[in-house]
Amino acid sequence: MSFPASVRLFEMSPRDGLQNEPGELIPTAIKVELINRLSQCGLSHIEAASFVSPKWVPQMGDASDVMAGITRKPGVTYAALTPNMKGLESAIAAKADEVAVFSAASEAFTQKNINCSIAESLERFAPIMETAKQSGIKVRGYVSTVMGCPYQGDVDPKQVAKVAKAMFEMGCYEISLGDTIGVGTPLKAKRMLEAVSKEVPINRLAAHFHDTYGQAIGNLYAVLEEGIAVIDASVAGLGGCPYAKGASGNVATEDVLYLLNGLGIETGVDLQKLINTGHWITQQLNRTSGSKVALAMGGCDE
Ligand code: HMG
Ligand code: MG
Repeated sequence: MSFPASVRLFEMSPRDGLQNEPGELIPTAIKVELINRLSQCGLSHIEAASFVSPKWVPQMGDASDVMAGITRKPGVTYAALTPNMKGLESAIAAKADEVAVFSAASEAFTQKNINCSIAESLERFAPIMETAKQSGIKVRGYVSTVMGCPYQGDVDPKQVAKVAKAMFEMGCYEISLGDTIGVGTPLKAKRMLEAVSKEVPINRLAAHFHDTYGQAIGNLYAVLEEGIAVIDASVAGLGGCPYAKGASGNVATEDVLYLLNGLGIETGVDLQKLINTGHWITQQLNRTSGSKVALAMGGCDE
């Protein structure tokens, strides 16, 4: 057992955190301020927007305005989701530093989420990879439903490995493994990672765990033991996928940071500033739920 000396946190709240917020559209200014506050916490990677169809995900409809409004902190990567060429073109125009394509290990979820089969999604990514390369933009890849699917149930780790391998071989610099509906448990996470890391080097893999059943921190501890050193998380545990029933929030960044600090793992992120940001955004969204750490530590306004 050996933990990494440092972990790169990839902040998901402006995209995965807000895409599923019910009710009114969140004002662009709130999104912009959230991203600016997150960059001040020391986070080096922020998924700032999603260039998907606004008919499918209305909360992300102002992606170009969000990207135009943020204050770019030198050294911070501002990333965006791009499901197709139209999304990529908009992301390039909006000066996204990197983009992400997304598929899944389950056919049923892929159909519901992006309206095509896994094979079709991979075909769709080919021109994205090509154009991104020409534009000097790195492409990240997500594989969703790595530990279970809301429509088909169990997912075979070999199938996760197959999709991850295909996306890695087409040029994704990193593959983020999404437990979209948070059904994983620590041993399951290890088994899944064992299968995937036979096909993709572990230092090119990231963990993207949702916390539906309170297992995400345990699952992260399990994969940290195996050598995972990139973790996706969302401040205040915001999040969910509109096309995955049961997908509750991402694991809270504050909780992950508290774990990593306790293990002596370096991140460069300031916990108190992050707690304040989590508290601020939950107030803006008029929600009562903060992260467990934020509540336990009496998170307060700046
Ligand atoms: P489609 O309906 O098959 O696409 O959707 P289409 O090409 O037929 O286009 C339909 C309409 O959408 C057209 O407009 C297009 O112009 C427009 P119309 O002619 O009807 O006025 N359109 C777009 N508009 C803006 N930007 C675009 C774009 N593309 C088409 N990029 C499509 C296919 C992929 C577009 C759709 O299914 C979609 O947008 N899906 C996105 C779903 C989504 O965002 N899900 C959440 C993110 S994934 C996630 O959360 C999981 C993750 O966190 C990891 C994990 O937790 O597992 C990453
Ligand atoms: Mg997600």
